[in-house]
Amino acid sequence: MSIWRRKSLAILMNEASEDEKGLKRTLSSRALVALGIGAIIGAGLFSLTGIAAADHAGPAVTLSFVLAAVGCAFAGLCYAEFASMIPVAGSAYTYSYATMGEFVAWIIGWDLVLEYALGAATVGVSWGSYLNKLMTQFGITIPPEFSSAPSEGGLINLPAIFIVCLLSLLLIRGTKESAFVNNILVIMKLIVVIIFIVLGWQYINPDFHVPYIPDYVPEHIDATTGKKVAEFGGVSGIAAGAGLVFFAFIGFDAVSTAAQEAKNPQKGMPIGILGSLVICTILYVLFSYVMTGLVPYTEFKNDASPAATAFAVTGYTFLQTGLIVAILAGYTSVILVMLMGQSRVFYSMSNDGLLPGFFGDIHKKFRTPWKTNIFFMVFVSIFAGFVPIKDLGHMVSIGTLFAFSLVCLGILIMRKKMPEAVRSFKVPLVPFVPIAGIAVCFYLMYSLPSESWLRLVIWMALGVVIYFAYGKNKSKLNKAE
Ligand code: ALA
Repeated sequence: MSIWRRKSLAILMNEASEDEKGLKRTLSSRALVALGIGAIIGAGLFSLTGIAAADHAGPAVTLSFVLAAVGCAFAGLCYAEFASMIPVAGSAYTYSYATMGEFVAWIIGWDLVLEYALGAATVGVSWGSYLNKLMTQFGITIPPEFSSAPSEGGLINLPAIFIVCLLSLLLIRGTKESAFVNNILVIMKLIVVIIFIVLGWQYINPDFHVPYIPDYVPEHIDATTGKKVAEFGGVSGIAAGAGLVFFAFIGFDAVSTAAQEAKNPQKGMPIGILGSLVICTILYVLFSYVMTGLVPYTEFKNDASPAATAFAVTGYTFLQTGLIVAILAGYTSVILVMLMGQSRVFYSMSNDGLLPGFFGDIHKKFRTPWKTNIFFMVFVSIFAGFVPIKDLGHMVSIGTLFAFSLVCLGILIMRKKMPEAVRSFKVPLVPFVPIAGIAVCFYLMYSLPSESWLRLVIWMALGVVIYFAYGKNKSKLNKAE
């Protein structure tokens, strides 16, 4: 049986029309943009910006955001074509099952665990860090041994585990964010970002932006600590920063999972995906410019809540509390969407026979894939509790970049194999855009630390073993054949 067998478009559309009985096409283009921003703005901006500036790019972290946005725009265009052509929930996993066959689909589905599950863990760690800041304002401090990972001098990160468990349990209960709640969260997040930029702007110290692009320092071993220090400054530093802050853009692909609920997917998908990307890029550049202007970037080293650190300079203490509460609320929606996305992908993979039926079991009363939710509650908690945010962020970025490059490749293959299929949105300048998308994604992956590559290879190798030991034979397509 071929590992390249493909799910036909007819099967996919059939599944979609069955699903569609329960879904309504209610999302306008504006609602789709809001959905995108809801899933996009989170820990990447509020936490990783500081680390990217301190460890890699200095004030030029703004340029890291621009570079990461360019890569996302290419991949975003490819996502938009797929979403308008195959308006089925399931995102990259589903697209590749139709274009590149089962093995690649499995690889992407397996890889998406890095994006969604570890993404939830990363945002969970950041959530815990901001919770700590908030509680400190009320005179309560969570001891560091219970709020940081072992490699950072702690024992376990309990706040991060708490939020992951709480939201997993909510998901089991079937709690869904309605478009209304999502809109409120998005408005809250946007207000916070805009307040930060407008108020912070007046307190920028221009000296902190000099030199804007610090001189290049290659990767080396620190003489005093004996630890490896990543390359810093110059163009390479900007690229390395982009690899890290790329995390801040993750989530725009979540818009494509709502393709079945879009009023007019032809128009809505490209607007939703690309519109949210453009708005977020502008805000990110301004935000990081202000952040590095308030406090010398060196002070953000290992600081998981740099936005609060920087904002403290303004002296608006009453706003400081509101800022943290809004950041916490914003993170909550990101974690929820990530955990939900993860369970959806494993649910689809289980339905296709590539994973045990366990992952597709639906709770009788709550109608949710509760066993998958519990499985990922434990899985994500382990990462959230014991791994530092920087390592998590790198893993999520490399995993997502890999998935994006496969989606770009999928467009090239689809154009060759199925030129006649109806596409309501077409990527312009093919093959340039998909090839450029792959190139930028690989460049960003290349700029990530070598440990991330090793971890990616180990994770994917494990996936390949599981596929050949299990999925290949159990696949429903295999049985059908
Ligand atoms: N883009 C999302 C964030 O920054 C994942 O939290």
